[in-house]
Amino acid sequence: MSDATDFFTGNGFSRLTGPLAEKAREFDATLEKARNDAGFSPKGNLREPVITAEFPGCPTDLPINFLALPNRQMDYCLIRIKPGHGFPEHVHGYGDEIYLVISGHGKVRIDGELYDAGPLDTFHQRTGVRHEVFNPAENEEDFEIFAVNTPAVHQDLRSKFWGIPVPGATTDAEGRYHHDESPVR
Ligand SMILES: [Fe+2]
Repeated sequence: MSDATDFFTGNGFSRLTGPLAEKAREFDATLEKARNDAGFSPKGNLREPVITAEFPGCPTDLPINFLALPNRQMDYCLIRIKPGHGFPEHVHGYGDEIYLVISGHGKVRIDGELYDAGPLDTFHQRTGVRHEVFNPAENEEDFEIFAVNTPAVHQDLRSKFWGIPVPGATTDAEGRYHHDESPVR
């Protein structure tokens, strides 16, 4: 006679057989090692990033190492936009995005409509709707927004699907994006 505990303990997915069983065990072990090596913690702080992505003029901080969570269902980051810079117009083909303004003042354009943006303002970008965010050159402070995307995109696919540029976005001689109040191209 066995109870449910007996059924799960030492059986099922802890005892794999078949031609790919060893590969599955290796994958689990590699993932577990990656999490441990990264020192993953579920608590983070926006002022103490554990990873920074160096987008031109828009360094982007990860407060939590979500790269150690390949099965996560969302992405999030703090984007620190320098005056005269911004994220070029793009769409997300797979899900929605929310911006929460943390500090500074800037502009958010959604589907051609330009909005002023200041602390605690919130913006919802629906799937497939073009949008951009920038900090006008006359400003002196960084414009900081916390962005949440759901669902998440696997790291291997991020460069291909995270953001799809809208044709016509332009850069200066150094490859940096600059924005002004001109209408959407
Ligand atoms: Fe976006």
